Amino acid sequence: MKLLLAFESSCDDTSVAIINTEYEVLCSLVSTQLDHARFGGVLPELASRLHMQNILRLTQAALEQTGLELRDMDAVAVSINPGLIGSLLVGLSFAKSLAWSQGLPLITVNHMLAHIFANFIEHPGLRPPFLALVVSGGHSELVHFTDFTQFRVIGKTLDDAAGETFDKAAKLLGLGFPGGPLIDKLAQSGDQDFVKLPRALPRKDNFNFSYSGLKTAILQYLSQQEPAFVQSNLNHIAASIQQAIVDPLVSKTLTYAKQHKIKTILLAGGVAANSRLREELSARSKSLGAEVYFPQPAYCVDNAAMVGAAAIPKLLAEQYSPLSVNAFSAKGTKTL
Ligand code: KG4
Ligand code: ZN
Repeated sequence: MKLLLAFESSCDDTSVAIINTEYEVLCSLVSTQLDHARFGGVLPELASRLHMQNILRLTQAALEQTGLELRDMDAVAVSINPGLIGSLLVGLSFAKSLAWSQGLPLITVNHMLAHIFANFIEHPGLRPPFLALVVSGGHSELVHFTDFTQFRVIGKTLDDAAGETFDKAAKLLGLGFPGGPLIDKLAQSGDQDFVKLPRALPRKDNFNFSYSGLKTAILQYLSQQEPAFVQSNLNHIAASIQQAIVDPLVSKTLTYAKQHKIKTILLAGGVAANSRLREELSARSKSLGAEVYFPQPAYCVDNAAMVGAAAIPKLLAEQYSPLSVNAFSAKGTKTL
């Protein structure tokens, strides 16, 4: 059994984890940058500076908590795309220096694949073929895996990602940032049929997502209501918005799974923490005889344990990256 020291710094969470090749997480520390909240979104330069400030402290804490030392590690893993370039470069530079100074192999992973591999932490026995719905703050993708390294992106967002839509809707409702968890909580006591909102691209042969029409509809609806009415019906409005975001994600995933007789569905990314999405995908997949898996909420949002999990097959296959490797911000799931 081998040990990996993993880093995640692609957006506004600095995270360090230690994981072994049996997918056991020995330690996963996350420092969420709350400083962005007052700007209503992530400020890229501030994010890079905060990663720079936090990454050494978190690494020391991870080693202290586990009683391990750098020389006990067998590899260093880090996510190198997609994400904010300045943020990615902090994690990558730090990981490279450790790998170089300790003589350890460097393993680089795609952040979206890392989200998907977070499922292996609780379910290490999962095997392809599977269909993954990855929904985060910057991405919504439906990915068909025929093997661990063989996959095809079936659909993706044409405009806003699911998480971005939650965040923008929450901003319009004056709720704060990030909006997903706030809408999720409010919606628990709300009526999802309170506001009629549009569902984009309903055709059964189209697996892309689009949320710009929904955003416009929410804006229009709110501009026609009295502020006091909105305030007293926040839970119903939140539930209606949540359902309009979740519906196309569930329908498209299940339509594809049915057409291609896929029995294993993996949910991943920050929006995979959404209680309605988890419930509805699980309930509606029963009629297909498909099983839905999702990581525990801490491993849905950005964390380094998932980066370590995605690096395990690469460590076992000795697929290392040269120390000259660069980070890049291009969107989406790519083989690396
Ligand atoms: O994967 P993630 O941590 O970061 C990116 O890679 O983007 O995802 C963050 C996104 C945010 O948009 C946040 O609002 C959303 O995940 N999110 C949720 C929930 N928890 C986090 N959206 C809906 N319901 C939640 N419970
Ligand atoms: Zn993410």
